Amino acid sequence: MEIKNLMVTGGSGFIGSNFIRYLLKRNDFTGRIINADKLTYAGNPDNLKDIEKNCPERYRFERADICDFQQMEELYRRHDIDSICHFAAESHVDRSIKRPDAFINTNIIGTFNLLEIARANQNTFRLFHHISTDEVYGSLGKEGLFSETTPYRPNSPYSASKASSDHLVRAYNKTYGLPTTISNCSNNYGPYQFPEKLIPLIILNASGGEDLPVYGDGKNVRDWLYVEDHCDAIWTIMKGGNRGETYNIGGNREMENLAIVEMVCDMLDEILEVDAQGPRRNLITFVKDRPGHDRRYAIDFSKLRSELDWVPEESFESGLRKTVRWYLENSEWVARVKSKEYQSWIDEHYGS
Ligand code: NAD
Ligand code: DAU
Repeated sequence: MEIKNLMVTGGSGFIGSNFIRYLLKRNDFTGRIINADKLTYAGNPDNLKDIEKNCPERYRFERADICDFQQMEELYRRHDIDSICHFAAESHVDRSIKRPDAFINTNIIGTFNLLEIARANQNTFRLFHHISTDEVYGSLGKEGLFSETTPYRPNSPYSASKASSDHLVRAYNKTYGLPTTISNCSNNYGPYQFPEKLIPLIILNASGGEDLPVYGDGKNVRDWLYVEDHCDAIWTIMKGGNRGETYNIGGNREMENLAIVEMVCDMLDEILEVDAQGPRRNLITFVKDRPGHDRRYAIDFSKLRSELDWVPEESFESGLRKTVRWYLENSEWVARVKSKEYQSWIDEHYGS
């Protein structure tokens, strides 16, 4: 399968920007990437500043909203798109609890728009790869793993909106024969993640001497995957995955939230040394639990391993250390995404 013009939606966000960086380095991809991103608070043009400068013939940024059908259709035609890798989404569970509307629009209607455009161009269309989450499966007890046949039981507006988009993608394959693949992945961490998510939030708060909020008893479990491993899994599925199929992606690394927070504290104590406030674990503060907080996620990715020979490469310890260092070494990026002026700067430079 040769992809010539790949539209990556949400390419200025955390995983999307890592994916573009990953793909442009590979020898088995020679096409162009068109990054269609609305630049919400989570989309950051700085994430790909160097790529924009160094790869103008292979990479192009377009500020665009996937909820705007006409705008997306025009982009699709103008860039002669043949495939879509769809990351764009509202991605943060806590925000979906406070205000679900943007989640319904972007995650469901936006996905529907892209599918309709692909369907209208089906004779030249090659692949629609949909990025999804393990959260669609709901919550596990102490035992068991999510497999591709686990029934969907989403518990938050975020996971319900992602579940809905997964069903639409599946339906477009079954009904119209659209060439699709879906991946459902566990929690990612690594460079360029917006510091509202647990790991970057804790790194920045702990290095700045601020409280470290741990929801409930801190014993909720997530499976963690270094973002570059996720990118590699996505590309593996895009290249070799059977069309119409879903693949789970996981890191084989279950961790309780509290244990992660403690690991980050200990790494920072080692790198920055302990100051007068004492060990950073002292900053841990148990706060009110998230409503509907899923207790445990764990992933069975044996289908991806046996069919496509994919396994994660990064260990959690080394990946976390790299991530901690990245946030410490990129203070300009951090200051920018945390500043009040940031969004108006984006609108000024990229059009609102
Ligand atoms: P992110 O919030 O960092 O990035 C989302 C990107 O989508 C941003 O660049 C944002 O500007 C863009 N976007 C939002 N609404 C848009 C719209 N209407 N039109 C165009 N662009 C829009 O998210 P992320 O963590 O990189 O997640 C990317 C995808 O991966 C999402 O679909 C998410 O559900 C999925 N996922 C994330 C994780 C994780 O741990 N972060 C795990 C599994 C799956
Ligand atoms: O499982 C994949 C999902 O992982 C993705 O689909 C989502 O887009 C992504 O945001 C992530 O969802 P989570 O809700 O698991 O991630 P978050 O970083 O928000 O929280 C991780 C765990 O840490 C969760 O159990 C809640 C807890 N938490 C989170 C924050 C922000 C805290 O205890 N304190 C916090 O301040």
